[in-house]
Amino acid sequence: MSGIRPTGYLHLGNYFGALRNYVRMQDEYDCYFMVADLHSLTTHPDTKELRNHVRHVMAENIACGLDPDRVALYCQSHVPETAELYLFLNMMAYMGELEKTTTFKEKARQQPENINAGLLTYPVLQAADIVLHRATLVPVGKDQEQHLEMARNFVKRFNHRYGEVFPEPRAFNYGEELVKVPSLDGAGKMSKSENQFATLYLTDDDDTIRSKIKKAKTDSGPTEPSQPKPDYISGLFGLMKLVSAEDTIRKFEEDYDRCVIRYGDMKKQLGEDMVRFIAPIREKTEAITHDEKYLKEVMEKGASKARSSAQGTMRLVKEAIGLNYF
Ligand code: TRP
Repeated sequence: MSGIRPTGYLHLGNYFGALRNYVRMQDEYDCYFMVADLHSLTTHPDTKELRNHVRHVMAENIACGLDPDRVALYCQSHVPETAELYLFLNMMAYMGELEKTTTFKEKARQQPENINAGLLTYPVLQAADIVLHRATLVPVGKDQEQHLEMARNFVKRFNHRYGEVFPEPRAFNYGEELVKVPSLDGAGKMSKSENQFATLYLTDDDDTIRSKIKKAKTDSGPTEPSQPKPDYISGLFGLMKLVSAEDTIRKFEEDYDRCVIRYGDMKKQLGEDMVRFIAPIREKTEAITHDEKYLKEVMEKGASKARSSAQGTMRLVKEAIGLNYF
């Protein structure tokens, strides 16, 4: 089980950090993937824009290879059992630990005028998303590890108080190191909120992709053989490793080591390889967002699968708590 907050369109970091793993998991596990629209409300977004983002992120999930017939792909607010379980789990969450959560402190700093209770209990809602399906594996990045640990704590307390209902969920990835997708300005990784020109979106058109890459930071080149690479250069090689052929990468690595690399050529090549990678995803996303009927069907099918799993869990939860009076 995993979720993506629809705070904007998806970028290359979302693809390699999350979606690619989802697609791989759908062949091996019983999967629930969700667009976390309720979580987004904690920051009071313009809901007209939110509506557009939800549909778009849903389409991007499919365009990246998720098959709505094989997984439950749904929108969080379509599964009201989420809110019900959130209420029960709120009784397992303590004020002190919620206030100490890194993401809460960060958000409280960013929006001091809107430190609402939903923001405080964000990790409880996330725990509800996960254990609603009694899920065990949660494909997420490093930034979500604290939330996962909190989910395990809520679950342990629930099980201890009312009896074993939930397995303990944990972060999951495919063994390899978590892939970080470097931003084009050499400062950290691609992200929705940082420098827009340093992030490649799955919706960028061909010329935008080429021009963002063309403008990526370089320098006058190495001066000594096999010199260590500065961050912004190793970032470009990092991106190449994601989308370019092996012999292409090898050629530029060798050129670098021999101090004959031409960054203009490298960026041109990377631009073309990136276009070849992103264009089909963008085109498929566009086709899906324009097909209202299909998108509606997908969301309904996903909601129905998720609700039937959720209702099974909620029966167990209410029995365990003792809310079955007759
Ligand atoms: N908090 C996650 C994020 O910001 C999104 C999310 C919501 C999520 N519910 C989830 C992730 C359940 C995994 C499982 O990225």
